[in-house]
Amino acid sequence: MSNALWEQLQRADSAAIWHPYAPATGGADVYPVVSASGVRLQLADGRELIDGMASWWCAIHGYNHPVLNQAVAAQLKLMSHVMFGGLTHPPAVQLAQLLVELTPPALDRVFFSDSGSVAVEVAMKMAIQYWYSAGQPRKQKLLALRHGYHGDTFGAMSVCDPVTGMHHLFGAALAQQLFAPAPTCAFDAACEDSDIHELTALLAQHSEELAAFIVEPVVQGAGGMRFYSPHYLVRLRAVRPIQCAADLRRDCHRLWSHR
Ligand SMILES: Cc1ncc(COP(=O)(O)O)c(C=O)c1O
Repeated sequence: MSNALWEQLQRADSAAIWHPYAPATGGADVYPVVSASGVRLQLADGRELIDGMASWWCAIHGYNHPVLNQAVAAQLKLMSHVMFGGLTHPPAVQLAQLLVELTPPALDRVFFSDSGSVAVEVAMKMAIQYWYSAGQPRKQKLLALRHGYHGDTFGAMSVCDPVTGMHHLFGAALAQQLFAPAPTCAFDAACEDSDIHELTALLAQHSEELAAFIVEPVVQGAGGMRFYSPHYLVRLRAVRPIQCAADLRRDCHRLWSHR
C-alpha cells in the first residue's frame, strides 16, 4: 500500500471509527493491518509487528491457524450461524462435550455466550436465579476482589475494581456490590489466615444477601498482571460452601501440592 493510501485509510478510520479505550474524537494511533500469521501482524506499509498480547488474549493458537481456518471454511459451506433457541447443531454439541470433558466433573453443562463480559453477565444471572429457585430471593449481591476486571458491560463493570474499573464515571448506574481486598499472598507462597481474614468476615456478615463470589483464578490479568497463590483459592473454597464446582477444591489442592 502506498504512503498516500495508508494515510487516507488512517484519516478515514479516524473520521468514522471509535476504537476501544480511545478518545471518541479519533486521532489515536492505529496501524492498518493487512494480514496476520502466527504471532505476526503484517502492516499495510510492509512493516511487521509481533502481537505480544494475542489480540487481547483471544488468538491463543496464533493467527491464520490452518486447522481453525479449515474448520471455519468447512462450516461456512453448511451455514454461518443459526439461532440457538429451540435449535441445535453438531459442532455446538461436540464443543460442549469437549468442554465438559476438559473441566472438573461438577461442571457438566455449557451455556454459550459471545464474549467474556456477556459470560460474566450470564453467570451472575445464573447465581441469582439459583438462589431465587432455592427460595432465597434476597441473595442478589456479588462479592468480588479489588483489582479485579470482569468486563465492560454493566453487570460486569459492577464487579470490577471500584477505583480503576470506571465506577467513578458509571458508579451511580451500577449495581452496588461488595469488595474484598485483592490477594496479597505471592504465587509460590502459602496463604495465611490473615490473607483471607477480611474476606471471611465479609462472607459471614453478608451471607444472607450474597449470591456468589466472582474471582479471576490465580492471575488478576487486566488489573495489573497480579499473580497470587493458588492456595488462596483452596482457602477461599473452604471458607463456606459457595455454590460452584465441588471439584475446584480438589483441583486447587492438586495444583498446590505439585508445585
Ligand atoms: C477475567 C476477564 N473477565 C472478563 C473479560 C471480558 O471479556 P470480553 O472483553 O470478551 O468482554 C476479560 C477481558 O479481558 C477478562 O480478562
